[in-house]
Amino acid sequence: MSSQSDQHDTVFVLDFGAQYAQVIARRVREAHVYSEIVAHDITAAEVAERRPAGLILSGGPKSVHVEGAPSIDPGILDLGVPVLGICYGHQVMAQALGGRVAKTDAPEFGRTEFTGDPSSTLLADQPDSQTVWMSHNDAVVEAPEGFAVIGRTGVSQQIAAMEDPSRRLFSVQYHPEVSHTPHGQDVIKSFLHAAGARPSWTALNVIDEAVEAIRAQVGDGQVLCGLSGGVDSAVAAALVHRAVGDQLTCVFVDHGLLRHNEAEQVQQAFGDHFDTHLVTVDAKERFLTALAGVTEPEEKRKIIGREFIRVFEAASLEHAGDAKFLVQGTLYPDLIESGHGTASTIKSHHNVGGLPDDLEFDLVEPLRWLFKDEVRMVGEELGLPEEMVWRQPFPGPGLGVRIIGEVTQERLDLLRAADRIVLAELKRAGLEREIWQSFAVLPAIRSVGVQGDERTYGHPIIIRAVTSEDAMTADFARIPYDVLEKIATRVINEVPGINRVAYDVTSKPPGTIEWE
Ligand code: XMP
Repeated sequence: MSSQSDQHDTVFVLDFGAQYAQVIARRVREAHVYSEIVAHDITAAEVAERRPAGLILSGGPKSVHVEGAPSIDPGILDLGVPVLGICYGHQVMAQALGGRVAKTDAPEFGRTEFTGDPSSTLLADQPDSQTVWMSHNDAVVEAPEGFAVIGRTGVSQQIAAMEDPSRRLFSVQYHPEVSHTPHGQDVIKSFLHAAGARPSWTALNVIDEAVEAIRAQVGDGQVLCGLSGGVDSAVAAALVHRAVGDQLTCVFVDHGLLRHNEAEQVQQAFGDHFDTHLVTVDAKERFLTALAGVTEPEEKRKIIGREFIRVFEAASLEHAGDAKFLVQGTLYPDLIESGHGTASTIKSHHNVGGLPDDLEFDLVEPLRWLFKDEVRMVGEELGLPEEMVWRQPFPGPGLGVRIIGEVTQERLDLLRAADRIVLAELKRAGLEREIWQSFAVLPAIRSVGVQGDERTYGHPIIIRAVTSEDAMTADFARIPYDVLEKIATRVINEVPGINRVAYDVTSKPPGTIEWE
């Protein structure tokens, strides 16, 4: 059993599926307590050995009554480790401790009115009546012995929250982790407080720990890092640079397919500001030559990927031939998806074109415990420029897949000039951070227009802007008409050759985010 003094300030989220665990872990970290996702079948012995400050049982898509429904090692609840059950976790806990769970004839979905007891430990200082977010068919109909029912919902007064503060066991039927439960974060905080977890998870501590771990891993070895212009590789490189300084060589392949000013920013941040050993390879001509006459999207991707690897390998050999370590910007969600943080595989889309997996390097992955928002926080703390830290996701093949048809210097210039205006105006309207990706696309058609007294026969561009959580699905962004108008006017006035602007109102599915 863990005691207050030797426990780790970590909260384990037991994962019952369907992405709930990730959201909960993020909320715990927002309260500055480190949180890790573990499989729901973690044993009591493992928990006892790792001594977390607390456990949270996540929601899940199943009913506790179906055959093979995921549960927990009941011994976990006897360890004296504080536990918070959420939704499915609330039911699992009730069932494991001798309460009763049954299908309810009043299932609740969405916003629900909840009446709670503000004198309880979990709901301390919250209003006695509040809105919560529900999603359940089953309900706890009888609380286990020793538990006080501290909150109910609906006409049938279902048990929506319960606690046994003496054993530090708590649970709620609703989802405190979602923004539709306005006092949800207070529930998380009350639990963390009851668990005695100290709020030590801050950007500064993350940096200190990462720096220490990098030094321990690489010793006096040489380290190689490919910079793509994106957030993850930039923050990873900046961390490694802080840890081992000149032992790091950064290679930036400028393939000429980045957006306006992005290549220059890499040079400014890493070459000038951080003064890293930065090797920039100007491969713009090489890529243009390789792409000449190619119009098929997958063919373009293959060529860009192939050329990237060749250039990167040659530059690394020449400038960091004795490097034993390679930096990767792998994030925590990548590891969760690939099986709970054990596999260390090179993820192709973390690199400009994707590196082959037979490279003989030991991987240095300083971001492997971080969510994207934490990577940004660390990037800001390290002094990376704002544009870089808040950069939107960008496809490895870059503008190559935003130009429909052949990629030529002239078409790249057109697209880049229009794209720059799209971004600048969305930023000016304050929409930049709520939009997942926004950019211009240059289609392979021409359109007739009239400017002044003259008929024009120019190029249209298409604005693409979507909101999304993870790029798997996306909704077209509801950009106000006056912002669209401003973009259209500026693009047509300022970019010679473009005479029409269209807005793409397709969501994903059925569309994809990119056009190619
Ligand atoms: P789609 O267009 O499939 O894009 O909805 C989903 C996300 O992936 C990015 N994307 C790519 N990233 N190489 C990459 O590294 C690619 O070939 C590629 N194609 C699309 C896209 O920008 C979006 O974030």
